[in-house]
Amino acid sequence: MKLLHLISHCGFMETPPYLRSVKRVSWFCTCASKWEGGVSMVQGASRGIGFEFVKQLLEKDERGHVVATCRNPNGATGLLELKNKFSERLNILQLDLTIESSIEESANSIKERYGSLNLLINATGILSIPDTLQPETTLSKVQKTSLLLAYEVNAVGPILVIKHMWPLLKVGGGHGTERDVAVVANLSARVGSIGDNRLGGWHSYRSSKTALNQLTKTVSVEFARKKDPIICLLLHPGTVDTDLSRPFQRNVPEGKLFTKEFSVQKLLSIINNAKSRDNGKFLAWDGQEIPW
Ligand SMILES: NC(=O)c1ccc[n+]([C@@H]2O[C@H](COP(=O)([O-])OP(=O)(O)OC[C@H]3O[C@@H](n4cnc5c(N)ncnc54)[C@H](OP(=O)(O)O)[C@@H]3O)[C@@H](O)[C@H]2O)c1
Repeated sequence: MKLLHLISHCGFMETPPYLRSVKRVSWFCTCASKWEGGVSMVQGASRGIGFEFVKQLLEKDERGHVVATCRNPNGATGLLELKNKFSERLNILQLDLTIESSIEESANSIKERYGSLNLLINATGILSIPDTLQPETTLSKVQKTSLLLAYEVNAVGPILVIKHMWPLLKVGGGHGTERDVAVVANLSARVGSIGDNRLGGWHSYRSSKTALNQLTKTVSVEFARKKDPIICLLLHPGTVDTDLSRPFQRNVPEGKLFTKEFSVQKLLSIINNAKSRDNGKFLAWDGQEIPW
């Protein structure tokens, strides 16, 4: 094996055809053992719930590797601090959901470095952006631009991420958990439920999450037919104290505003204990199924 390694690295000669498959097996074994603790990707990791996922994945599993993606790595101060602490196990990549080439580049970079992924979490989401996107209180406030922007970031982007990452998804990781399948977890929201819609309003956000739910469910049906199982989950984190919920926290009943730490702890427990029968489910932070 050592000789093979030397030959391939020095490039002294072409590997004879009869040795090529041996070389491939040797490369696979080296990669597999190097990333034995598993590789998780968190998309939308600069702040909020996504950042907390990265933190807990690194802190709770001392062998696991994490790829954290965000739009502006240089400005993601929290992630940079984590990188100082977990330099070997954290890899920060640039990815903007609205630019498909950046998703493709991240997929190529992950493939080259790790060979495979065991967990993919899509944690991005937009509800309001000053001067650009306001959650609508009535139909007269609905604008085409707001609807399209919410759809682009909340529904289209996460599905494009799955499209580029799924060939890399393999069983593994989840060390010390019951997870024996690769998992894709999309952060959705209870307001995306049509059956649970009693209040109305928030047309753009609400319907974009409904679209995300349908797209994810559709992907989960396709994944169920694949040889290597991949489980797709839609997760509602509860109302969590982040930038996204801050302007709307006034009406949250006492005790119903969760910390990021609490919510992510609950969501990770759902992810780590996911079974094939959970594929395509829309679950709240406490494991309860939410009606479509
Ligand atoms: N917080 C809640 O109460 C709550 C409730 C129900 C569901 N959720 C869902 O949970 C998820 C996480 O929400 P959060 O509370 O953590 O939100 P947040 O604190 O506002 O964080 C949103 C994240 O999305 C990223 N993002 C936005 N547009 C992006 C784009 N074009 N490309 C890449 N990344 C982009 C942001 O990155 P930048 O730093 O670059 O802007 C940020 O990392 C969302 O799907 C949300 O809908 C949250």
